[in-house]
Amino acid sequence: MARIPDAFIDDLLARSDIVEVVGSRVPLKRQGKEYAARCPFHDERSASFTVSPTKQFYHCFGCGAHGTAISFLMNYDRLEFLDAVDELAKRAGMEVPRSENPRSAQQQDDSRELYSALDAATKFFQKNLEGSEKARSYLDGRGVDEENRARFQIGYAPDGYSGLRDALGKDERRMKLLDRAGLFSKNDRGHVYDKFRDRVMFPIFDRRGRVIAFGGRVFEKDDGPKYLNSPETALFHKGRELYGLWQVRQANQRIERLIVVEGYMDVVSLFQFGVTQAVATLGTATTPDHAELLFRNAPDVFFCFDGDAAGRRAGWKALESVLPRMKDGRQAFFLFLPDGEDPDSIVRKEGAEAFDERLKQATPLSQFFFDELTREINLGTLDGKARLAERAKPMLAQIPDGAFGDLMKQQLAQLTGLGGNAQAGRPQMPQRAAPRTIQPAAKRSLVRGAIAVLLQQPSLALTLGGKHHFQGLRLPGVELLLELLGLVEQRPDISTGALLEHFDGREEQASLHTLAAQTLAGDEAMWTVELHDAVGQLEKQLLFQRIDDLNAKQRQQGLDDTDKYEMRELLKARANLRL
Ligand code: UTP
Ligand code: MN
Repeated sequence: MARIPDAFIDDLLARSDIVEVVGSRVPLKRQGKEYAARCPFHDERSASFTVSPTKQFYHCFGCGAHGTAISFLMNYDRLEFLDAVDELAKRAGMEVPRSENPRSAQQQDDSRELYSALDAATKFFQKNLEGSEKARSYLDGRGVDEENRARFQIGYAPDGYSGLRDALGKDERRMKLLDRAGLFSKNDRGHVYDKFRDRVMFPIFDRRGRVIAFGGRVFEKDDGPKYLNSPETALFHKGRELYGLWQVRQANQRIERLIVVEGYMDVVSLFQFGVTQAVATLGTATTPDHAELLFRNAPDVFFCFDGDAAGRRAGWKALESVLPRMKDGRQAFFLFLPDGEDPDSIVRKEGAEAFDERLKQATPLSQFFFDELTREINLGTLDGKARLAERAKPMLAQIPDGAFGDLMKQQLAQLTGLGGNAQAGRPQMPQRAAPRTIQPAAKRSLVRGAIAVLLQQPSLALTLGGKHHFQGLRLPGVELLLELLGLVEQRPDISTGALLEHFDGREEQASLHTLAAQTLAGDEAMWTVELHDAVGQLEKQLLFQRIDDLNAKQRQQGLDDTDKYEMRELLKARANLRL
């Protein structure tokens, strides 16, 4: 991925106003120094979502959602990082610096041309659908109306070997482009011809609504594979895409649930019947990338499979992919359909309401997990219990910390009678949905206190005038505190939000966010004193640490002249402290 310099991100955040960004999407109410709203990321009646103009970040005290203007756009508009940066830059009238590497500018041009070739192909197929009686009556037969033909931009690839080639491959350059877009096949003699022939064409869209590939369905059963898909190209990696996601996003302001089905026509039929939250994996098992994409778009995900053994195997695969992503607030369900049915045939037969009813009865992940694991195990025996524990533990260890993981471990403990209680193993994470606290200063450790002050008002770091001599002090958090001080010194006007952005993807980020979200008691003057006190104390501790170190060295190997000199200075400094 193209790297954007940190300094640009800092500038961008400094020139964007998070209140404006959030406020244009969610109605905000002024509340003291901050703005409040009902959280757009979870269902709630009260307003626990706050946006802070001074800290330039948002935080939900209900579900723990938090971040900067960039992460808000990523989560609310469901943009990728680079797209969110683009969007903000556009608002701020800034030019995003792409990497200086000229190859990357070249790559961008290449992708732009590929997108436009695929777009031209889509239009070509759509035009051919208009002209094909056979294709139109096929879609009639499958109950796809005009609205949904347009929504999914369904088309028809004409019979013959060069329909597309003749229409769009006007010169060498365009031929190459169509080839790289995956639209051609080549025979042994190097002859290039249309890959999709006499098929109903389903374009596959990316997250921004651009066509990146196609699936083409035959009319007759024995005319080759039922669905022919585009090969992997620079733009299309099928393990990362979900058919229909773009249409789902267009049709829903807020996506409460996603239903994962197996086929193109399942998605289209569900839309046709008013179920507008279905997406399909493209002839592959659910990958971890899919799982991530699904949960980034909706809190509840329903996986639909055939009821046969293959369907249960596919379900298990999906379960394996989602387990590591089951953060609190997310839910996964599994729906197994009667033999021989798929969502298309079911919704056609029973209607949308009955399909919704089936979803309501779907098996929760926890139940599917233990049902499958105990399927061939006799829990009446010690041996069986031990086997269950052995199989379940490594899988449960993948669940992110939180209530869901704890409950799963409790369930395992209950089933096996083995002490697998939630506390065992990993330390508890701080409770995410902790009530809004005003932290009394005295309760926090020195380092934590100083960090909390910096997150409250980064510019206070500047009052130290660059003087903080505790580098090398062996105390948890010291490195982090120094890093924060350094960041503010480099960028004196940095906001809390922008500061947090520097820790994106790092392990410290969650606890920094939690600290930043607190409202510290006191005022600027008190915080300044607290920060200076903390730094003074840490410097003292470093002095003592150094004396201890030198004493230890003296016992072990003796001190050389420089050591002795340093020791004298240290002792003098200590004596001064005690005056
Ligand atoms: P199915 O064989 O279950 O077909 O394939 P379907 O979706 O019910 O199709 P219709 O209703 O007969 O039109 C499920 C999915 O597996 C992939 C496609 O994504 C398809 O939608 N598949 C299937 C292929 O990629 N290639 C194939 O040859 C068959
Ligand atoms: Mn089908």
